[in-house]
Amino acid sequence: MRIPFIAGNWKMHKTVREAVETATALKTVVAAVEIVDIVLCPPFTALGDVGRAIAGSNLELGAQDMHWEPQGAYTGEISGPMLWELGCTYVILGHSERRHHFHETDDEVARKVQAAFAQELLPILCVGETLEERDAGRTEDVIERQVRAAVAELDAVALPRLVVAYEPVWAIGTGRSATGGEANRVSALIRQWLGQAVGGPSADETRVLYGGSVTPENIAEFIGQPEIDGALVGGASLNSEAFAAIVLAAAGGP
Ligand code: 13P
Repeated sequence: MRIPFIAGNWKMHKTVREAVETATALKTVVAAVEIVDIVLCPPFTALGDVGRAIAGSNLELGAQDMHWEPQGAYTGEISGPMLWELGCTYVILGHSERRHHFHETDDEVARKVQAAFAQELLPILCVGETLEERDAGRTEDVIERQVRAAVAELDAVALPRLVVAYEPVWAIGTGRSATGGEANRVSALIRQWLGQAVGGPSADETRVLYGGSVTPENIAEFIGQPEIDGALVGGASLNSEAFAAIVLAAAGGP
């Protein structure tokens, strides 16, 4: 069984104080939730304090990116061991904002995925097509390429621990989400490509999330799909009440 997974990507939002306040408020509201993996991904600057604020709770900590080298002369970068030290369990990799604003390539994303596993950090690998690619009928080609490249060096043992987020770029921060059916279809393909690329049935255990304008109002449409195991939430995760409502919906109520 794949355990539902809800992650909040706070992107470049919140001071340390604001981040701790939101995490602390959230912790109380979702304290009784048992069967959902709930992950907060604050900015690097707030990881340590948010980690302390949620210690002992059912919330887990994730980072938004990392470098593939464990250390070195890479001014401004953050490595896997540094995230591990701060208590991170997960790390978002290959987010479209990193691919587009910072020109991250499939090859770099693949190196980061391997480096994360080497550090016992679990990647939340993001894939998704732009509006232009979608309009050109290239959605499947683009996502297949992104998926296969990212897992090319992984073995079947890693797949159940990998989380993939299907985030159509045109749905991110636009208020225009994909339909549940569309996201379900792509999620099934992602699992199929993972299985083909790595071999064996272990992709059946890989959690595939939907991301892109997820809200308390539309989460049911995604979580109700057989191939979708949860959501990677941006804007709505900044507000503890909205994010808690999404978590509670994933838990099956209220
Ligand atoms: P929004 O939920 O704000 O559309 O962001 C989605 C996202 O990019 C999560 O990683």
